Amino acid sequence: MVLHGPNLNLLGQREPEIYGSLTLGDINSLLTQEAKKHGVEIFCLQSNHEGNLVDAIHQAFGSYQGILINAGAYTHTSVAIRDALTGVNLPTVEVHLSNVYRREEFRHHSYIAPVAIGQISGFGVQSYILGLQALVNHLKNLS
Ligand code: DQA
Repeated sequence: MVLHGPNLNLLGQREPEIYGSLTLGDINSLLTQEAKKHGVEIFCLQSNHEGNLVDAIHQAFGSYQGILINAGAYTHTSVAIRDALTGVNLPTVEVHLSNVYRREEFRHHSYIAPVAIGQISGFGVQSYILGLQALVNHLKNLS
């Protein structure tokens, strides 16, 4: 399951100097192509609402093998999303388009990173592609 958090529906028009010019639809298409190369299926969901993201994480349990998440600003604030991830205990990779560590101090802390396999930040859409590859590799090594 691929989860996109708040404001990522605005990609393409939102601060393109930071987030690039691709839309969320473009990113989802590239992820779908990448997934096919690895023989996996993905389901992509974006929400601006913390509770919807929590619900989606709960629904992932039993239906999906792992979670690729860009929680947007909730990365830096949401104990609820972190608790949902630990609650379902699915392998999770955290991604960010921008390098959050080169930006404002409040973006330097992630509630998700300590419960994720790893984090990829700063490579634009490549963060998502690399994140998907890392998640698939992790899952294949488990089986
Ligand atoms: C982001 C970084 C966050 O700090 C920010 O709130 C976002 C996008 C990224 O992909 O670079 O909404 O997650």
